[in-house]
Amino acid sequence: MTDDEVRTPAPGRARQSEIFRAGASGSRPAVPTGWSALVASAERAMTPEAWAYVAGSAGRESTAEANYDAFDSWRLVPRMLRDVAERDLSIELFGRRHPTPLLTCPIGVLELVDPDADRAIARAAGSLGITSMVSCQASLPMEAVAGEAAGPWWFQLYWSSEDALVESLVARAEAAGAEAIVVTLDTGMLGWRPRDLDRGFLPFIHGMGIAQYTSDPVFRQLVRERMRRPSGGPRPRVTPTAVRTLVGMTRRHPGRFRENLRSGEPRTAVETFLDVFSRPSLSWGDLPFLRERTRLPILLKGVQHPDDARRARDAGVDGIVVSTHGGRQVDGAIGALDALPGVVAAVGDALPVILDSGVRGGADVVRALALGATAVGIGRAWVYGLAIAGEEGARQVLRDIVAETDLTLGLTGHRGVAELSPDDLVRI
Ligand code: FNR
Repeated sequence: MTDDEVRTPAPGRARQSEIFRAGASGSRPAVPTGWSALVASAERAMTPEAWAYVAGSAGRESTAEANYDAFDSWRLVPRMLRDVAERDLSIELFGRRHPTPLLTCPIGVLELVDPDADRAIARAAGSLGITSMVSCQASLPMEAVAGEAAGPWWFQLYWSSEDALVESLVARAEAAGAEAIVVTLDTGMLGWRPRDLDRGFLPFIHGMGIAQYTSDPVFRQLVRERMRRPSGGPRPRVTPTAVRTLVGMTRRHPGRFRENLRSGEPRTAVETFLDVFSRPSLSWGDLPFLRERTRLPILLKGVQHPDDARRARDAGVDGIVVSTHGGRQVDGAIGALDALPGVVAAVGDALPVILDSGVRGGADVVRALALGATAVGIGRAWVYGLAIAGEEGARQVLRDIVAETDLTLGLTGHRGVAELSPDDLVRI
């Protein structure tokens, strides 16, 4: 062991040492460090409704299983005698050095788990230098979360059927300091989710997870116009002049949108949200609209087919997130990791390709990186930590994944993320 290692142990050894030293005086990690125990403990910590919403997936949940199975079908082949004493987990993405290859996925409606969840994950990720993606369905306005994010953050957009709202949300994200816009493409409609259907439970109908909307001037204008029109009349539109004024406001006064719509109109707000939430008619021809309205990098989330990846590259987007939305949208679909090699072969030379869906720990992170992912998104794993022990629980899950990634990297014979390649894997 060198002096340097004694002074600044790599994250894997540091975390093990912290746990074992605390264990010697009788304390145990607040959040289980292994996947099965983490899931079981989270289920005990959540209400049945929250558990169904977070853990549930589409249909028979076979895509969620396929996500996990895909990881299990690729096996690492460790290499020996390669001097792995010094290891570097950092990656380069959009001109920024990220200390780890992890990102936190956008997760909506977290007030089901904890009213302060959006701020808690921004703080937890930020304290580790991990970029968080703030959901369009968050429970707090992005401006309120941005103030807490010690690290960089990206804004995740659901493309509303109201283009003026898209424009306003993106303008707000820019003004509040987002470093990228992630457009989620796989949710033009909600998937068929039996766990929620059987409970008759959709959080948005209860006014949950719509804070980005109720804090938005264009959305509020839509609510006001809806209240004025006779019931059954056509959906109100915001005039182009009003859009210019309102979007101008979002750019000039980002602090103003920290608060949700507080009084009056809550029912109308929910109805308006249900009307404008998404646009199933969205197509490739719409992307220039967004490109013209932001200077931030644009990523497309939910791409799985190599042809879609090529099309995205040709449309001038800046990155791809290969994702099955955690299996929550299309049952019977390909596991995300199985979609990754095709997308990487198609566009990996030109664009960063991020992978999420089914990542349970560091061994999964390393496999995704070996198959060509630039970075890896963590979804339910940190939500489970949050449910068990709040901000500290989410931080612990992320630290544990970083620790296991570091150890797996070294134990398979690598000093850095860039050294990983498909040659480190066999398919079984
Ligand atoms: C999500 N996901 C999601 N994605 C998105 O783009 N916007 C969102 O608001 C949400 N909301 C959301 C809520 C819940 C409860 C879950 C579980 C997932 C999908 C998420 O970003 C990511 O793609 C998956 O969670 C990755 O799969 P795993 O790692 O959870 O299996």
